[in-house]
Amino acid sequence: MPIRVIQWATGGVGRAAIEGVLAHPDLELVGAWVHSADKNGRDVGELIGAAPIGVTATTDADTLLASEADCVVYSPLMADPHTVRAILSSGKNIVTPLGWFYPKPTEREKLDTVCRMARVSLHGTGIHPGGITERLPLMLSSLSGSVTAIRAEEYSDIRTYGTPEVVRDWMLFGSTPEQAATSAIVAVLGSGYSQSVRMLADEVGFDLDQKLRVTHETAVATKTIDSPIGPIEPGHVAAQRFRWDGTVGDEPVITAAVNWFMGEHDLDPPWTLGTQGERFEIEITGDPGCLVTISGMHPQSVDAGLVRNPAVVATAMHCVNSIPYVVAAEPGVRTYLDLPLMSGRAAPNLNLNRKSFVVDTGLPQHPDTCRNERLPVSRPGLDA
Ligand SMILES: NC(=O)c1ccc[n+]([C@@H]2O[C@H](COP(=O)([O-])OP(=O)(O)OC[C@H]3O[C@@H](n4cnc5c(N)ncnc54)[C@H](OP(=O)(O)O)[C@@H]3O)[C@@H](O)[C@H]2O)c1
Repeated sequence: MPIRVIQWATGGVGRAAIEGVLAHPDLELVGAWVHSADKNGRDVGELIGAAPIGVTATTDADTLLASEADCVVYSPLMADPHTVRAILSSGKNIVTPLGWFYPKPTEREKLDTVCRMARVSLHGTGIHPGGITERLPLMLSSLSGSVTAIRAEEYSDIRTYGTPEVVRDWMLFGSTPEQAATSAIVAVLGSGYSQSVRMLADEVGFDLDQKLRVTHETAVATKTIDSPIGPIEPGHVAAQRFRWDGTVGDEPVITAAVNWFMGEHDLDPPWTLGTQGERFEIEITGDPGCLVTISGMHPQSVDAGLVRNPAVVATAMHCVNSIPYVVAAEPGVRTYLDLPLMSGRAAPNLNLNRKSFVVDTGLPQHPDTCRNERLPVSRPGLDA
């Protein structure tokens, strides 16, 4: 029996998750919740630019809660804890990139009770925060002795993030530095990244100072910068750096950091992405230490990223690939520390169950876009 999945919201993550579910040999898409009234009643295949698949999107949460499904991929714009509890109480597991990576003990206890009553699990995952700030550093640290520091850091050109409202109204690009400095963005982002820092500290065994050190710096445009959110005027925010440091005796030992750029030109200070360009870095200082740079999870161009952003796809895939493990887990909040090693699944034309699903984005295929389902594959003896 395939695991029945509902997709909750069909933004960038949601659409990529739908593709991922349709291509996954163990999963079946059975429903989709949408926020936008104009998507209500439409076929989900159509919403992702593919052929109809016979699953209709709905704005009616109650109908979906009453329906039979095993797991929800929960990826709306903002998390609504009330909805999350309602989904869990309806007997559906949740995987989500919006939080619950490593909830505080009091919150976890409450959610554990909800989960145990409904015999389901809640798993927070994604990439940043998520796999790159938690799972991969944990795995890499296991190759080192006497670990003294762990750092996970993102360097991205934010022009490729396909939701202008989020970039403008929430990330506050284009605002004044004063507006950005007094906004809730650090706290909102910090609710996720601080969980990453604390998860690593608890598992690796750092006795952190009570408060994390939080840094937020901005660079402003020196000339008008054209961007997907419209022109950014001189003196307005065009790049931002955020840093969450877990310290011991004031020395940083665990760091999660983000560097977001609206392009690399005409900035004051004159920040750049560096010679390596867009990337994720994970650094372990220990005996021995290591520095891992992840490339390929950023788009080839701004235009390509606005159509389909590999980092968003990776976020969605980390959710989708975790579903079988989360559904099989003991009920409760399940973090990376509680779940076994997870993997992706072979492309539909290579997997044993032979699922076939193709969505045509109209973009040229490139290895870095992490898509390979259209490769012609012939396996003598197997494909006969
Ligand atoms: N942890 C990670 O690594 C990671 C990475 C990327 C994103 N994220 C998070 O994942 C979430 C989804 O990201 P995304 O890139 O898919 O965002 P997005 O493209 O902006 O899509 C969000 C979707 O939420 C729905 N929505 C819009 N306004 C809403 C509202 N007021 N209340 C509830 N739902 C609303 C819409 O769904 P419909 O279109 O279906 O109506 C929209 O398409 C965000 O919270 C983002 O921060 C996490």
